[in-house]
Amino acid sequence: MRAAPVFVSQEELKAQQDAARQVSALPNRPGSYHIVTYGCQMNAHDSEKLAGLLSGMGMTEAPDRREADLVLFNTCCIRDNAERRALGNITWLKELKAQKPGLIIGVCGCMVQQPAMAQKILRQYRFVDLAFGTHNLHCLPSLLLSLLTQRSRVFSVTDDETLIAEGLPVKRLNAYHAYITIMYGCDNYCSYCIVPYVRGRERSRRMDDILREAEGLVKSGVKEIMLLGQNVNSYGSGSATETFPILLRKLDAIGVERIRFMTSHPKDLSDELIQAMADCPHVCHHLHLPVQSGDNEILRQMNRRYTREAYLDRVRRLRQAVPDIGLTTDFIVSFPGETQAQFERTCDLVDEVGFDAAFTFIYSPREGTRAAALPGRIEAAESTRRIETLIRHVEASTERVHQSLLGTEELVLVEGLSKRDEGMVSGKGRRNITITFPGDARDIGAILPVTITSCAANTLRGQRKER
Ligand code: SAH
Ligand code: SF4
Ligand code: F3S
Repeated sequence: MRAAPVFVSQEELKAQQDAARQVSALPNRPGSYHIVTYGCQMNAHDSEKLAGLLSGMGMTEAPDRREADLVLFNTCCIRDNAERRALGNITWLKELKAQKPGLIIGVCGCMVQQPAMAQKILRQYRFVDLAFGTHNLHCLPSLLLSLLTQRSRVFSVTDDETLIAEGLPVKRLNAYHAYITIMYGCDNYCSYCIVPYVRGRERSRRMDDILREAEGLVKSGVKEIMLLGQNVNSYGSGSATETFPILLRKLDAIGVERIRFMTSHPKDLSDELIQAMADCPHVCHHLHLPVQSGDNEILRQMNRRYTREAYLDRVRRLRQAVPDIGLTTDFIVSFPGETQAQFERTCDLVDEVGFDAAFTFIYSPREGTRAAALPGRIEAAESTRRIETLIRHVEASTERVHQSLLGTEELVLVEGLSKRDEGMVSGKGRRNITITFPGDARDIGAILPVTITSCAANTLRGQRKER
């Protein structure tokens, strides 16, 4: 039985609003902020909330960290390189602070939620003024108030992992595309993964809150909504009326032009969800369905709770229901003990499924996870060879998909001017592939029909269809 989510109380939210007002009135409060974000879309959206809270305290956004009075690092710890990159950049600011003593440096997000890392920052990164974890993001106003009034470092990492804070201000980065987090945390405990430890137990927002947020976004001109969660397929309170397929159908009915979601766990991809994707005209024909490995023994050791055959069965069923669906995925190579034969089964799977694209990662041991204790570490040189081989399979698959799309028509939501080509705009089709075609700034935010005429490595080119 799932633990019922507990919502941050109205009193607490009000106390935070009071703290925000007090911060805005302080003569020594920072005038500007800059947020550096690492990690997944969930973190990107958390940064939009942090920006909303900081703007609410009267601060303006500085485009460059060197010009900001407060720099906040919203960190990720999914792999070792994500942590090293963040720590390197935080260290770089130590010098800036030497020249600009009033600079406030804050660190938050998943990295800080690990007790050993919080201790390390506390002891070894003495120039960091403020640190907080993933569960108390909504407390930023009171944390900042303590920092500014007591003039001592503020470190606050809590374990209140069942809490959901509704109604926080959000400063959105994009006028046409918006994130909505529908659930927090993860209960799956894949053996390699740190997320359940730093994001807490799985808990879902109320459907009414989500629908209200979506309606507000549609009214403000948003065209595309991306629903976020570590495993959106298991969204819900456990009741039969609050499931992910029902949520999709309701969002589809309120007139959101395009709906996307991620991430989907293959073990929870139900026939009801596939049917909802087929029935709802606004749901995009794209699914990110991380498979991680093509070998059953490795999948078992990863605690993924599906087999290669079950994954292929879901793919078949999806394609029956939504024939032009584009599939993308994630892979981990060099999981402890992975043999050459097991690795090759992952490469075959790419050839067999025909993914539009894939993210490929080398296994990175995470302290505290089950896989970190497994024997059979693969050497770095061998891991590099494996990931390069796998990338070649993925590139060949992308190429085949792109070739198959030549001459077809796509509806493209124009995101902006093309960075590389003058007189061109680019955006994503419903399959989530970037398409570039002739246009100008007036097209930004429009959804336009485009015929695909040629393909390059990662993008498709097209011609606008006259209506
Ligand atoms: N909730 C999502 C994604 C979570 S993290 C899901 O279940 O798919 C995104 C990706 O990072 C994962 O899909 C996985 O491929 C990769 N990843 C997670 N932990 C990792 C680790 N310890 N080493 C390497 N890659 C990892
Ligand atoms: Fe990590 Fe697995 Fe949860 Fe995804 S489903 S966040 S990989 S534990
Ligand atoms: Fe990273 Fe945390 Fe997302 S560990 S991938 S930022 S949930």
